[in-house]
Amino acid sequence: MSLTKKIHCDKRLTSQLQQRLQNFLSFVDQEADRFLGYPCNRFFDYTPLYPFLSFPLNNVGDPFLPSRYHLNSHEFEREVIGFFSALTHAKPEEIWGYVTNGGTEGNMYGIYLAREIYPEGMVYYSEATHYSVPKILRMVHARNIMIKSTVNGEIDYQDLAETLRIHRDVPAIIFANIGTTMTGAVDNLDRIKQILKDNAITHHYIHCDAALGGMILPFVEHPPAFDFNAGIDSLAISGHKMIGSPIPCGIALAKKCHVDRIARAVEYISTFDTTVSGSRNAITPLFLWYAIHSQGIQGFRKIVRGCLEMAAYAVQRFNECGIPAWRNENSITVVFPKGPDAIMNQWQIALQGDMGHILVMPHVTKNQINLLLADITAAKEVKP
Ligand SMILES: Cc1ncc(COP(=O)(O)O)c(C=O)c1O
Repeated sequence: MSLTKKIHCDKRLTSQLQQRLQNFLSFVDQEADRFLGYPCNRFFDYTPLYPFLSFPLNNVGDPFLPSRYHLNSHEFEREVIGFFSALTHAKPEEIWGYVTNGGTEGNMYGIYLAREIYPEGMVYYSEATHYSVPKILRMVHARNIMIKSTVNGEIDYQDLAETLRIHRDVPAIIFANIGTTMTGAVDNLDRIKQILKDNAITHHYIHCDAALGGMILPFVEHPPAFDFNAGIDSLAISGHKMIGSPIPCGIALAKKCHVDRIARAVEYISTFDTTVSGSRNAITPLFLWYAIHSQGIQGFRKIVRGCLEMAAYAVQRFNECGIPAWRNENSITVVFPKGPDAIMNQWQIALQGDMGHILVMPHVTKNQINLLLADITAAKEVKP
């Protein structure tokens, strides 16, 4: 599928520069056809919102409070937060949130709140955790211990229990994965809470990294515990992953009582500073709002069901070709032993050690899966 669009540039750009942009458009258009390895949905259409790109919109400040900067989309941001609060069973009167620039910022927010509540607390996270988390822990100077992971990518509960037992005197900050990056594994919150209880650790904080899982589990038939129903303290979801957006974005949700501890009044913007960034994107809340209203719960449910079915198809086809692919329950991440480098690169397959994965996002088709398999098997000279 090729974009025939011609880019119309300001005449001050030389024809060479205009051609460069045109070439770049052709490049991304082509590459998007082999975009299987990362969890970003490429199916979206926000063209009706393009007029908003003509204004210096900025969501600086707390979306729930008035600000002197009137060119904001706080009203829409609040509705987006309301949608995600309901989706994650948060009690509206107890929860606060904002639209972030991605999952990483949402995770940073959760860790920041936890560290403010328990400055001496120890953060426990599994080795399957996203690479940005150890960096965040360094940035906020949080004490931390990495816990082993099991083969499928869940936190190793035995290692967690043994480690917590040694540090029973220290408040525990649990960084739980609701869909790990490489294998889509979901840490079992019930088991984690039981381990905290067994060790009589009453001072604890649980943050859930639901970057991708936060937009899958609400739509499956029997989801495991993953949200505020399970008594968690904060949660982060990416917006550009399952929903899709040309600009990275996400959602941070946290208990209001935790956020109140970090809020600071700022005269310059005449509101409270409760977010990580000062200036904040005002377009992405509009994108999310638009997607929420155009898809609705039923639309998202259908999209997720379609992805899960396609992921099951991918596993079956890989296995038929003699490649031992697998996936976790309720996951659209199909894991397989990595193939030849050139093929992995051509299809933008994320790798870790000997492992590769495809992310069966809404744009992934049977044809693409079969083309990838044909490339792998041809390269290995193995007949499908
Ligand atoms: C489990 C997990 N957490 C966090 C992130 C970071 O999210 P973002 O890229 O939206 O900052 C990712 C990204 O893939 C992820 O898979």
